[in-house]
Amino acid sequence: MAHLLSPLKIKNIELKNRIVVSPMCEYSSHDGFANDWHLVHLGSRAVGGAGLIITEATAVSPEGRISSADLGIYKDEHITKLKQITDFIEAQGAVAGVQLAHAGRKASHNVPWNGGKQIPSDQPNGWKAVAPSPIPFSEVEETPIELDKAGIEKVKADFKAAAKRAIAAGFKVIELHGAHGYLLHQFLSPVSNKRTDEYGGSFENRIRLLTEVIEAVQEVWPKENLLFVRISATEWTEGGWTADDSVALAKILKDKGVDLMDCSTGGNIANAKIPLKQGYQVEFSEKVKKESGILTGAVGLITTPFQADEIIQEGEADLIFLAREMLRDPQFPLRAAHELGHEIKWPVQYERAKWPSLEKR
Ligand SMILES: Cc1cc2nc3c(=O)[nH]c(=O)nc-3n(C[C@H](O)[C@H](O)[C@H](O)COP(=O)(O)O)c2cc1C
Repeated sequence: MAHLLSPLKIKNIELKNRIVVSPMCEYSSHDGFANDWHLVHLGSRAVGGAGLIITEATAVSPEGRISSADLGIYKDEHITKLKQITDFIEAQGAVAGVQLAHAGRKASHNVPWNGGKQIPSDQPNGWKAVAPSPIPFSEVEETPIELDKAGIEKVKADFKAAAKRAIAAGFKVIELHGAHGYLLHQFLSPVSNKRTDEYGGSFENRIRLLTEVIEAVQEVWPKENLLFVRISATEWTEGGWTADDSVALAKILKDKGVDLMDCSTGGNIANAKIPLKQGYQVEFSEKVKKESGILTGAVGLITTPFQADEIIQEGEADLIFLAREMLRDPQFPLRAAHELGHEIKWPVQYERAKWPSLEKR
């Protein structure tokens, strides 16, 4: 049996295999609304056989969007279309997850195909970004507003309200976006968080917002559903957040009932040197998993069935998050099963296209 195609049961939720569609911003919404693009984009990857499909970064508030085209879950009206999407995903035997996000100082940007630069707050589709400290991501960006206590309380309330809507929208997994230099990560990092109150300074203080957001979400999110947290397990920068910090955080989150830590890296420091190579972030998943005991996801330049299968077999991760490979090939799971010699259920509509088994060819 291929390890990659083996099921994973977390609490009472069974993922039919270890393949996760990693969150990917589509920048295709107006006022946060999902539309047919999201239905087809996420739905076709469910048809392709992934066990868990997670939406792109889905903003908990309008000011928490990276761009004005981000998906959102900050209005009750957002629920209807999201529910259609989760119903379709479930009908394919997959589980639907939502990545809840707040961009913090990385808000108010143009979409990538229009250059992706920050839009000044006084321009159309621009607004003032908020952050733990008044430090811009790069010198060409506006200085964000430092969140005061009321602002922090609003962030927590926004995540909680979003989690409530996620239930109505039929999601079974919430992934909190604590990575890639967005708001929760900005609080974790000593580089972007220079606060002198109880949300800054020591490790305990810098993780406070994330843990309080988790608690706020848990007040409404059913215990039988799953809660994941994506982090940047290192900032690849002297004086930044480290892999050991990630392990310490994972132990705390595990005790709090977080089900899985999705281990990405980077994104908070504009000029960090990242040693890109195949599977370059897997070591962080392995370290966090082995040293904290929490379930982990590995992500980043994982592109072949054998590579992904080996990561699971070696116990370096429990789930494989695939982003760009799933854009190149939405049927990656069906192909992986074939290449790994594993029988997998195809959508009946597609059965005639099944590759003949290797012996029969
Ligand atoms: C088009 C695109 C959009 C992305 N949007 C998000 C996002 O919304 N949230 C997130 O956590 N990561 C996002 N990422 C990062 C991916 O989830 C993933 O971590 C990264 O691409 C590395 O995996 P890969 O090598 O399989 O692409 C995005 C990546 C791509 C290519």
